[in-house]
Amino acid sequence: MLRAHAEQAYAHELTALAQADDRPRPPRWKLSPWAVSTYLLGGTLPDGTVITPKYIGSRRLVEIAVASLATDRSLLLLGVPGTAKSWVSEHLAAAISGDSTLVVQGTAGTPEEAIRYGWNYAKLLAEGPSESALVPGPVMRAMRTGGLVRFEELTRVPSDVQDSLITILSEKTLPVPELDTEVQARRGFNLIATANNRDKGVNDLSAALRRRFTTVVLPLPDSLDAEVEIVQSRVQSLGASLELPADLAALSEIRRVVTVMRELRSGVTADGRTTIKSPSSTLSTAEAISVVTSGLSLATHFGDGRVGASDVAAGLLGAVVKDPVQDAVVWQEYLETVVRNRPEWDDLYRACRELDTDQPAR
Ligand SMILES: Nc1ncnc2c1ncn2[C@@H]1O[C@H](COP(=O)(O)OP(=O)(O)OP(=O)(O)O)[C@@H](O)[C@H]1O
Ligand SMILES: [Mg+2]
Repeated sequence: MLRAHAEQAYAHELTALAQADDRPRPPRWKLSPWAVSTYLLGGTLPDGTVITPKYIGSRRLVEIAVASLATDRSLLLLGVPGTAKSWVSEHLAAAISGDSTLVVQGTAGTPEEAIRYGWNYAKLLAEGPSESALVPGPVMRAMRTGGLVRFEELTRVPSDVQDSLITILSEKTLPVPELDTEVQARRGFNLIATANNRDKGVNDLSAALRRRFTTVVLPLPDSLDAEVEIVQSRVQSLGASLELPADLAALSEIRRVVTVMRELRSGVTADGRTTIKSPSSTLSTAEAISVVTSGLSLATHFGDGRVGASDVAAGLLGAVVKDPVQDAVVWQEYLETVVRNRPEWDDLYRACRELDTDQPAR
């Protein structure tokens, strides 16, 4: 498999946690809230099993998220792109209900059927509306099993479709008028939604819907070290699954990539002395992860296996320059005023200039 679901990839950790866990579990939860937050934040169990941290950040935020899911309130993970909203929602679903695959992917074209149910039209025409002609959507399936359903990018969905969630979340029931019945949610049913708070073209949630959610805002990592740790641990596990030998010497390169991202994102250099322009693109931790991963691939296949400046330069340029006109100016200015003046970054400066054949080095 190219990518295993969280409950498959971390099956051994989930099993060990379930064995060690003697705290009370809410109805149909595979683990207690304590074990779920240990699964997300990492730790060592009494039998010596090491639980790797999945989310690196505030413990309290994770506790608030888990505690909310243990009540009848749903959870809304909000944040700028690349702050691990989808990642956290997948791991929460895997740890709580052992199944992270009940997902509605929200888009501007998500129809109401994607949330509720659809029909097998051949059967519907042959037999008329019947239970066997009904095709339940992820939300209906989670209601029937008392599990968790994930709703990705909730704010991209048209408002009328969003609002069809209100009855489901407050009455915990989904009417099926065609069959003159309803599906009542079993205990344990809940929903985790994710939404981006910076995207253009979004449909804000109505106050009525928002009230049904506990909102947890996932922040960008607050320090360079925390962000380096996130990138390093993700690159290591991605490298392993892509069979790219993880190169620990890449650490200094990771620190440099993350520094570039953080400086451009915040508009000021790490020492606070020079202000710089920020590009139009979002430079999230996720971008840093993909710059380093593609550097690892370049180094493995076309270099000596050690990630160096020339392996990350192309990725950096691609991540920063999304708008070929404005961002290119921002990047040039950053190269000339910041990168060039750091003697220990000389290799990076030269590697970036080489990519840019239009501009002769000054
Ligand atoms: N604090 C963090 N701890 C652990 N991993 C993180 C953290 N921040 C970002 N990541 C990593 O960043 C990557 C991107 O995360 P993810 O796709 O979940 O972002 P997202 O918030 O859903 O973004 P989008 O709004 O674009 O959907 C994941 O691989 C995740 O592991
Ligand atoms: Mg996402």
